[in-house]
Amino acid sequence: MLSSILKECKEQWIKAKHNKKHPFRFFTLATIAPEGSPNLRTVVLRDFDSETLSFTIYTDLRSRKVMELEQDKRAQFLFYDPKRMLQIVVGVSLMKSNKNDLIYKSIPEQSKKDYAAEKSPGSKINSPESVEYNFSKGHFVRLIFKAETMEYLRLKRPTHLRAFFSLDDNWEGTFLVP
Ligand SMILES: Cc1cc2nc3c(=O)[nH]c(=O)nc-3n(C[C@H](O)[C@H](O)[C@H](O)COP(=O)(O)O)c2cc1C
Repeated sequence: MLSSILKECKEQWIKAKHNKKHPFRFFTLATIAPEGSPNLRTVVLRDFDSETLSFTIYTDLRSRKVMELEQDKRAQFLFYDPKRMLQIVVGVSLMKSNKNDLIYKSIPEQSKKDYAAEKSPGSKINSPESVEYNFSKGHFVRLIFKAETMEYLRLKRPTHLRAFFSLDDNWEGTFLVP
């Protein structure tokens, strides 16, 4: 039963990287600011490796999340499937951060905008139209995180289902009181 829960999660992440409408396609990434406060934002799941339990996102090298992850590699992901009332919280550590020119070149121009603003993300501007882009420069970065823990919670009747898995116990897992 525990191993089938883990298997099901992996299958859903594999589906999410191909299916743009999958509820796990977008998820919440939490990082820790240098002064210790949490910061949350939505990101897109770009890749998932079920062997290494690693997750990939794309972002702008100059964004706050990158600065925070440089200081503290720990982060958390929150996935939520409203139809199944399923929540998964994954504790991760940043494994790799690389500027991958091949991927950046393959991205359509409209989407390149997400990584090519002249000013850094979060800079003040006078209007949304005043943003200028430099596509040749680009500040694209690929972040790869490795899972260390995973907590699964599915609300259902007659009994909710909560389970915790960790790399430390070789992902064997244990059930928890919901
Ligand atoms: C639907 C949606 C998807 C998003 N996907 C990404 C993404 O894949 N990568 C990213 O860097 N920001 C993405 N964002 C923007 C982030 O939520 C965030 O606002 C931005 O990255 C700046 O975050 P930071 O200043 O905390 O680094 C997305 C926002 C929304 C609403």
